Amino acid sequence: MPAPRKIITIFGGTGFIGRHTIQMLARTGAQIRIATRSPASAYFLKPCGDVGQIVPLSCDIHDTASVGRAVAGSTHVINLVGILFEGGGKRKFDAIHHLAAQRIAHAAAEAGVQQVIHVSAIGASKKAEAHYAQSKADGEDAVLRAYPAAVILRPSLVFGAEDNFFNRFAAMARTTPVLPLVMGGKTRFQPVYVGDVAAAICKIVTCPDSHKYAGQIFELAGPQIASFRELLETTLAVTGRKRLFMPLPAPIAKIIGALGGLLPTPPLTVDQVRSLATDNVASGHHPGLADLGITPTAMGGVLPTYLRQYRKI
Ligand SMILES: NC(=O)c1ccc[n+]([C@@H]2O[C@H](COP(=O)([O-])OP(=O)(O)OC[C@H]3O[C@@H](n4cnc5c(N)ncnc54)[C@H](OP(=O)(O)O)[C@@H]3O)[C@@H](O)[C@H]2O)c1
Repeated sequence: MPAPRKIITIFGGTGFIGRHTIQMLARTGAQIRIATRSPASAYFLKPCGDVGQIVPLSCDIHDTASVGRAVAGSTHVINLVGILFEGGGKRKFDAIHHLAAQRIAHAAAEAGVQQVIHVSAIGASKKAEAHYAQSKADGEDAVLRAYPAAVILRPSLVFGAEDNFFNRFAAMARTTPVLPLVMGGKTRFQPVYVGDVAAAICKIVTCPDSHKYAGQIFELAGPQIASFRELLETTLAVTGRKRLFMPLPAPIAKIIGALGGLLPTPPLTVDQVRSLATDNVASGHHPGLADLGITPTAMGGVLPTYLRQYRKI
């Protein structure tokens, strides 16, 4: 008898990691529900080829009843909701990374969902200086308390078409003669390919004995460690540009961040400066991609495929 069809509800599925994950999960034949603030924004997520169904549904992650309705009847729940900076109203790290994550995990437990995957971030720590990393740690704790078998994934900086880092600096280098180096550009990252993050999620969802992952934390990191400065140098090399670097010591970066924080989409925030005080690499204390049977993809083969558009002509 064929296995019953998986019904996977994804929160934050319209985002960068979500778009890649949904295409991969849909190819397994699962029915995907995208719980989103704006269902119209999810209609572009059409499945390719002979795949499962993708259905957007309206959900307010700050409302317990709304989250309960989104989760009801699901076999799997994946939470990819996250923000990089705070804003007005409920756009706060605690409300989104902690309280909404807790609400989703609670609803999943109440609905008898078979598996919950919660996406956090490398560096999540209650002791972190950055509020982003603190809220990610609070979220992990709350999710595991509400749903102890949840699987937590902590990616490092994620790269791939439409990413937020390489695209941003490649675009900046097109128009400015200098690129800023917060903390002297010394912060180290271990960039992970978005396809590998999506593959990790797929692997956990489709594994026949997936209970072996229950309650585990995976650090998802790529094969190379590079400093912020090296990542900018790589971006310039791939796009065929030369630019000067301007070191921004923390106090100056924080002033710029404080002013930037007043904009609707800040180029830099005080909390991001705090984040850059700590390396964003795998600690080695948790399993990673290799433990899921995934060989991490190097940046070299992927970056030119989507940074081409920024090349100097
Ligand atoms: N990209 C990275 O480099 C990276 C690195 C480490 C960890 N992560 C984590 O991985 C997860 C996914 O990241 P991503 O890069 O795919 O993020 P993204 O592209 O910004 O997408 C995040 C999603 O969160 C939802 N969301 C944002 N603010 C919301 C709000 N106020 N209320 C309800 N939903 C909201 C949005 O869905 P709707 O608009 O459809 O509701 C959006 O599609 C996040 O938890 C992030 O912290 C990402």
